[in-house]
Amino acid sequence: MIRYEEQEKAFYLDNGRITYCFGIVKGQYLESRYFGRKIRRCRGSARPWYFDRGFCSNPDPEDKIFSLDTLPQEYPCMNQGDFRQPAFVLQTPDGRRVSRLVYRDYTILPGKPPLAGLPAVYAEQPGEAETLAVRLEDRVSGAQVRLYYTIFRDYDAICRHVEVENPGNESLWLERLMAMSLDLPRRDYDLVTLSGSHLQEKMPHRRPVSSDTVLLESSRGASSPQQTPCVILTDPNTDEASGQVWAVNFIYSGDFQATVQAGQYGGVRVQMGMNPLTFGWELAPGQRFVSPECVLVYSAEGLNGMSGVFHRLYRQRLCRGLWRDRLRPVLLNSWEAFLFSIDEEKCLALAKQAAELGIELFVLDDGWFRNRIDDRRALGDWTEDPDKFPHGLARLADQVRAAGVAFGIWFEPEMVSYDSDLYRSHPDWIIRSPACDPILSRYQLVLDLSRPEVCDYLVESVARVLRRTGASYVKWDMNRHITDLGSAWLPAGRQRELSHRYMLGLYRVLDQLTGQFPEVLFEGCSSGGGRFDAGMLYYMPQTWASDNTDAVCRMQIQYGTSLLFPPVTMGSHVSAVPNHQTGRTTPLSTRFAVAMAGNLGYEMDIRTLSEEDRAELRQQIARYKALRQTLQQGSFYRLLDPCRGNDAAWNFVSQDGSQVIVCQYRVSADPLRRTTAVPLQGLDPEAVYRRQSDGALFGGDELMYAGLSDHPVRQDFTSLVTVLDRVEA
Ligand code: GLA
Repeated sequence: MIRYEEQEKAFYLDNGRITYCFGIVKGQYLESRYFGRKIRRCRGSARPWYFDRGFCSNPDPEDKIFSLDTLPQEYPCMNQGDFRQPAFVLQTPDGRRVSRLVYRDYTILPGKPPLAGLPAVYAEQPGEAETLAVRLEDRVSGAQVRLYYTIFRDYDAICRHVEVENPGNESLWLERLMAMSLDLPRRDYDLVTLSGSHLQEKMPHRRPVSSDTVLLESSRGASSPQQTPCVILTDPNTDEASGQVWAVNFIYSGDFQATVQAGQYGGVRVQMGMNPLTFGWELAPGQRFVSPECVLVYSAEGLNGMSGVFHRLYRQRLCRGLWRDRLRPVLLNSWEAFLFSIDEEKCLALAKQAAELGIELFVLDDGWFRNRIDDRRALGDWTEDPDKFPHGLARLADQVRAAGVAFGIWFEPEMVSYDSDLYRSHPDWIIRSPACDPILSRYQLVLDLSRPEVCDYLVESVARVLRRTGASYVKWDMNRHITDLGSAWLPAGRQRELSHRYMLGLYRVLDQLTGQFPEVLFEGCSSGGGRFDAGMLYYMPQTWASDNTDAVCRMQIQYGTSLLFPPVTMGSHVSAVPNHQTGRTTPLSTRFAVAMAGNLGYEMDIRTLSEEDRAELRQQIARYKALRQTLQQGSFYRLLDPCRGNDAAWNFVSQDGSQVIVCQYRVSADPLRRTTAVPLQGLDPEAVYRRQSDGALFGGDELMYAGLSDHPVRQDFTSLVTVLDRVEA
């Protein structure tokens, strides 16, 4: 899949469907040449014409036409005459930041080597993937920079990351390090990003790339709900079903920066990596720094084609462990039912009723540990509250299981409250500057995970509760962002490393815990989808998508999230009405129809349901279980965008193609009761499908090219779920 063409001085990564090509120019510079649909050769038909241009600097004094200011580059550095965004800025002991990165050599490795201490896509068999490592050398500092590229046989994706080594005998300082940089040749792209907020995560925004630079970033200590480390470029006419897409996503959960920069003479530079605002790293002699990795996806089949690649790759080669391939349980979470006001009796009553309805897992959310009567206290002290649970949590867990449902539990391990034994005994374990009081958020402080002893404490305190209760599910929360970046543990010269060291500490904790408890299903959460990213999915195969459980908002959030992440990774719950966040009342059937398009759960006091609602829940859960293999493991296609109109729709197709599930939603009632027919995707046009509700038979071609109509009724917030089974000819 990887070859070097000596004549063209070009590297080709090619899996028969996509080609990625870059070359060596003047024996030392790496030139971006092509990324897209498979081509046999890339000999420069689209190469820009070079002129002697004003202000261009010429690294080769004999060649006034050659300038790094105009060359499409693979990994540009600073102070070398490319005045666009550099991917690499290194400070030498003399305080200067002048580099001369030159090509040295390459190696091709079978499979995909792991990234020590970091989440990453993996290959299970060596034949699945091939990796190219290209070595560059900084002639100024001697630093060795290795660019890694992996291509996969079965996924149309390239993984890129960078390693920097200091072989010298003086320290060097990394100031800016991008995991990837890519110069694409055209200017007429649209840029799609996913930005948002708490309660409105991952909203897609689309606009043409024009002049200047678009900067996406987080300096919050988490990938954040505000921005997503993801850049999607499309042709101007690309839609869900057709057109070209080039996408980059960062497998990292902390601060990041991504830029999309229009070149002065055409072309666009895309970069993604560490956020220089909160990143800096001292490379002591002999040390090596490994960047997290980016996944680059190309699709010629529209945004759904792109999502299909991300979904399969992340589901099969990023998520790990026993739960990667297992069907996920239907859960009931105590939070919206009880908030902090929980006790043994209430929990048991809820769990018993959950079992009767067919729910498989009861999750004890916040409020179970000593002194945790509200959000002002007790984070960090992970011992059960004897007042709320006089017989102990172990007994509650046993009784829950005896009632017929598994037992799961909530933690927010990275945090500590002032009012906690942990803070009182270890005031130096928090992130802060000694010069001023740290800023609070939700009354809590962030633990300094750059300290190994803090990480060990977290592993031990979570493990103790899991051992004691036999819990089979953990909700791992993170409810504030990081201010006051300062560590009592790190020396002055390494304070800028804290933000990344925090992530390395967290990844170590998660690695140890998931390793010690392979049977436990971990779900990530950060006030909803505040850290819903590819980095977390490596450790925890699902994430609570949003604290906003309103069905109308959820359509939008799940739609946007699905650009990158498969439905099986999205925790989505049916909650009570009026909704806690929006005050809106939507029908139970629609709340279900939205939540079933992710990992179904319930988050309400089911003790107070009417008999009618209880019967509906029972039916919903039975229906979900009958369909969940398709919903959780099938392919997902977005059909109608709820952010752009009154209707939303998507469909699932089971892995073997035998079942299709179509979800159609309408937000406001239409007085004219007009029908919306939506063309389905991913079906076999030659096949015939039977609609379960009435036995009607339709050809796959008709369903895909003419569409499937909804049933407009006189009501707001309606939904229609249609199941179609393929019939043998
Ligand atoms: C966050 C989570 C919620 C719940 C609360 C508990 O907001 O997103 O689901 O767990 O914390 O404090």
